[in-house]
Amino acid sequence: MRKGGKFTDSNNGALVSFEGIDGSGKSTQARALAQTLQDRGYDVVLTREPGGAVGAEAIRRLLVEGDPDRWSAETEILLFNAARRDHLEKTILPALASGKIVITDRFADSTRIYQGAARASLRPLVDKLHALVIGIEPDLTFLIDMNPKAALARGLARRSGEDRFEELGLEFQERLHHGFLDLARDNPGRIRVVDGARPVAEISTDVAHQMQDWLKARTP
Ligand code: TMP
Repeated sequence: MRKGGKFTDSNNGALVSFEGIDGSGKSTQARALAQTLQDRGYDVVLTREPGGAVGAEAIRRLLVEGDPDRWSAETEILLFNAARRDHLEKTILPALASGKIVITDRFADSTRIYQGAARASLRPLVDKLHALVIGIEPDLTFLIDMNPKAALARGLARRSGEDRFEELGLEFQERLHHGFLDLARDNPGRIRVVDGARPVAEISTDVAHQMQDWLKARTP
């Protein structure tokens, strides 16, 4: 993990996140990378946000189900941070401390974009809260980039009952899409943009190569 922009890992642990708009295929890619790394002998924890720990999963249900207007934007930011803090304490930090590779399906970039970029005036609150209660960034982030129209059709077709954000519509997904690409441009060392419009296996191979190169490059 990175703290204050510097690597703090004194062991082999690494935090890797997958980001993207709803229906981008990032969960499939997170699972595929976890499997590939496990097959290569790495100790891997695959997890997700919001969720990834018992308390955080309870908060997830409050966030992703129900009416889109259920929470004010500020309350929503607090709930995402509460879930993330629990995830960090109970799952991520213990796994990193024992040298595991943690692959998380979403992390703080999602809050920056869904809550921060979608409502620009709230980005300072998102950043301040992150600095106060989370304070770390992934070592590496794969942004699965996908056309919002195609992604939205796929996301809603799933009818998972967790559609609170997808129900906000195409214009919202387009804003998210641009927000994620801007974030990638601002963080070129950490965020890799991956073309999600290709066949699933081709994307997985691309991600696995980039991950392997990254692991090799950090070996002393
Ligand atoms: P998922 O579909 O990737 O499981 O994520 C659930 C929803 O929660 C998705 O629509 C994105 C949204 N979300 C935020 O709005 N902010 C966040 O910080 C996170 C982690 C997710």
